[in-house]
Amino acid sequence: MLRRLHPDQPASFAFTPANQAWAQAQITKYPEGRQASAIIPLLWRAQEQEGWLTRPAIEHIAEMLGMAYIRALEVATFYFMFQLQPVGSVAHFQVCGTLSCMICGAEKLIEVCRQKIAPRAHMLSADGKFSWEEVECLGACANAPMVQIGKDYYEDLTAEGFAQLIDDLAAGKVPTAGPQNGRFSSEPLGGATTLKDYTGEAQNGSVALATRIGDTIKRIDGTEVPLLTPWQDKPVAADKRNVTAKSIKDHEPKPARNAPADETGVAKQQAQATTKGKPKAMGEKAADNQPEMLTAPKGKADDLKKLKGVGPKLEGVLNELGVYHFWQVASWTPDDVAWVDERLKFKGRIERDGWIEQARILADGGETEFSKRAK
Ligand code: FES
Repeated sequence: MLRRLHPDQPASFAFTPANQAWAQAQITKYPEGRQASAIIPLLWRAQEQEGWLTRPAIEHIAEMLGMAYIRALEVATFYFMFQLQPVGSVAHFQVCGTLSCMICGAEKLIEVCRQKIAPRAHMLSADGKFSWEEVECLGACANAPMVQIGKDYYEDLTAEGFAQLIDDLAAGKVPTAGPQNGRFSSEPLGGATTLKDYTGEAQNGSVALATRIGDTIKRIDGTEVPLLTPWQDKPVAADKRNVTAKSIKDHEPKPARNAPADETGVAKQQAQATTKGKPKAMGEKAADNQPEMLTAPKGKADDLKKLKGVGPKLEGVLNELGVYHFWQVASWTPDDVAWVDERLKFKGRIERDGWIEQARILADGGETEFSKRAK
């Protein structure tokens, strides 16, 4: 398949400030002179932000990495995961058309796409909301036929069920990912005969994680997830990026198309990410060293009682302070720990109980010995 840049391109590209910071942090993973190694994650983040990979985005990233445009273009056109044409504003459907899915009804799903979205792959629907393509095996063959919608897998589909999914998305809903026929995961259709210890769980791990993160069809602007930079010896929270003045200046973001600064000059994301009181610039702290907190949970708050040492009372105090999510705890610096510790009036508890280590595991959708027991 010939992969070319789309004839209609936007005039410019800029990462959102948070994505720019994320990109800068990725580059630090590689030794001096090897920055080009960050090309794929940066192209991918640009696509996650915009939905597809534009020529200005490819060129912007090539400049960030000190690469010739043609080198970045070679990468973007080589890998099919990069969308070189606009995709649906709501969702892009990737229908698996490989053996298992084909045997189990992928052709019917493709027919649904043709009828409900557009007659040809990579065409936008009339309202611009959807697009589709056929892809090679996505590794969920035991749950064939399946479709990747945005970032998640929808499995065990029927033509009718898939049509309904599209209608639901058009109506602004985001259907729950995973098997759509009542299966828990990929056990036999008649039910598991061994390894039955999942009984009692509402969702398998992947679906639970997809539900918790809730970014199935969301464009990623960088404020959603913690920026984990273990190679820098500490994680950096989404709203507290490790951006140096120099790195900002080097790659000063132009105004993002979807997040224009308001009349106060504060970009939308910065405004959302700030805490009580006056908005703070990214990376800046209040005078009393207060870590950046949230004024409300982003989506559903995490059950902080899954952290060893946090009971209902302490959870209430943490919520009052603006801590709702494991990823927030996972990103605390020693200064942040000291600040929170003081307010909890349990000096040393955070370190003693290893909240940060526990929170990192829980933020990634894993379980600790304690959280398993707490359940
Ligand atoms: S054949 Fe469709 S996921 Fe493998």
